[in-house]
Amino acid sequence: MTARGSDPARGSGEGDGNRSPLRAAWRAARGPNGRALLEADERLFFRQILSTPCLEAVVGAEGPWLLTADGTRLLDFHGNSVHQLGHGHPRVLAAIARALAELPFCPRRFTNPYAVRLAERLVAAMPGGIGAWKCLFAPSGSVAIGIALKLARLATGRYGTLAFWDSFHGAGLDAASVGGEPLFRDRLGPLLPGARHLPPPVRGRCRFGCRDPEHGNCLAFLDETLARAPEIGALVAEPVRWTTVGLPPPGYWRAVREICDRRGALLIFDEIPASPARTGTLFLFEQMDAVPDVLVLGKGLGGGAWPLAAVLARAELDRFPDTAIGHYTHEKSPAGAAAALAALDVVAEEGLCGRARNLGARMVERLAELRARLPFVREIRAIGAMVGVELGPADGRPATALAERTLYAALRRGLSFKIGGGRVVTLCPPLTIASELLERALSILAEALLEASGDAAPPDPDRDSEVVR
Ligand SMILES: Cc1ncc(COP(=O)(O)O)c(C=O)c1O
Repeated sequence: MTARGSDPARGSGEGDGNRSPLRAAWRAARGPNGRALLEADERLFFRQILSTPCLEAVVGAEGPWLLTADGTRLLDFHGNSVHQLGHGHPRVLAAIARALAELPFCPRRFTNPYAVRLAERLVAAMPGGIGAWKCLFAPSGSVAIGIALKLARLATGRYGTLAFWDSFHGAGLDAASVGGEPLFRDRLGPLLPGARHLPPPVRGRCRFGCRDPEHGNCLAFLDETLARAPEIGALVAEPVRWTTVGLPPPGYWRAVREICDRRGALLIFDEIPASPARTGTLFLFEQMDAVPDVLVLGKGLGGGAWPLAAVLARAELDRFPDTAIGHYTHEKSPAGAAAALAALDVVAEEGLCGRARNLGARMVERLAELRARLPFVREIRAIGAMVGVELGPADGRPATALAERTLYAALRRGLSFKIGGGRVVTLCPPLTIASELLERALSILAEALLEASGDAAPPDPDRDSEVVR
């Protein structure tokens, strides 16, 4: 354990760790193709926490499935939160192929019909629509957060930010300064000046000891911080903390919105993993009773196949034509915009917002049955089809160890998911998943939890994850 309580071996912040004995044993048990790729990966790539050494080598991704180099299939309930449509949705792939054939690249200083159509579509979906909002595109979420930070500095004339401890807003130095995760901040020397942090809001569990569940988590503290630190120009936050499915207290964001307005700070919502559609509405803020000044999208925006992020901001912030705010080489990627347009079509035509709500409700229903049987399943939290299952200790095993054992027990049975915050099993299925596969994944999770807590035998290796070689 480090002095700050994180556990790089097991993982604790953004995901499961990659240096634990269980990870080593898992890697060693891969087949020859997988092991060869994993070893090459480690020889060639810099080792880093949460990444190399990797978990598994994959050679295919289709719908809800990942195909490993050794021919097994994993149901992907992680997907880095890009796979609202499942992997390789044919509409997205066809749109990318068409755009690549027609306009493979759009140099900066030029625009193109794909980018303009996507901008129109996104801006029109915001409250007030075209005229009230403008946008910029970027090749990654972290970069888009950097754009939002620049905009906030320009618009308010203030360089400081307020964000939450343990939050993640991207791995770039600017985004990591604003984020509050030690794994991304430690040992790097001075980060961005003026990046301040508060304990995160957690429904029903105020870290300051507030008793009021409606407006706990010390809105008064937040208000006073903004009042006493006039250099703070923006509050940057995920409306729901993704990695742990940390839900805010009811009414929290409405109250924060009002405080930001009173203190002249912009409200920047990072919905990079949450939107579009995953949470049951196109944008997550629609459920938070607060419209941000700046909304940042990414991940699934590119249909799960193209790296694309977007910054949507109130049109009155468009006052700095002499400053480069974005200016990224692949800023108006025709293929990226085509992918996003196709993804938004699929979201609308296949009713994926409603599907997210239904999938979430079913997952919560089955997990509640499980919780009744397994007392170490502490809490189930959900927003649309993003569900967090928080584990507690059992039989002398700490929750982090149980979570890690659950992960490998599930992987052996053909289900992949991510552990958030060291102890939260996060379930993020494709919104297009067939009901039988959802049920199968939940059964696997139940077996894995039982095995991890010592109440069930490991699976018969012959009946393991499905082999499709
Ligand atoms: C909440 C949040 N913000 C920002 C990012 C960064 O996005 P990207 O990896 O595309 O830079 C992520 C990625 O995981 C994220 O989950």
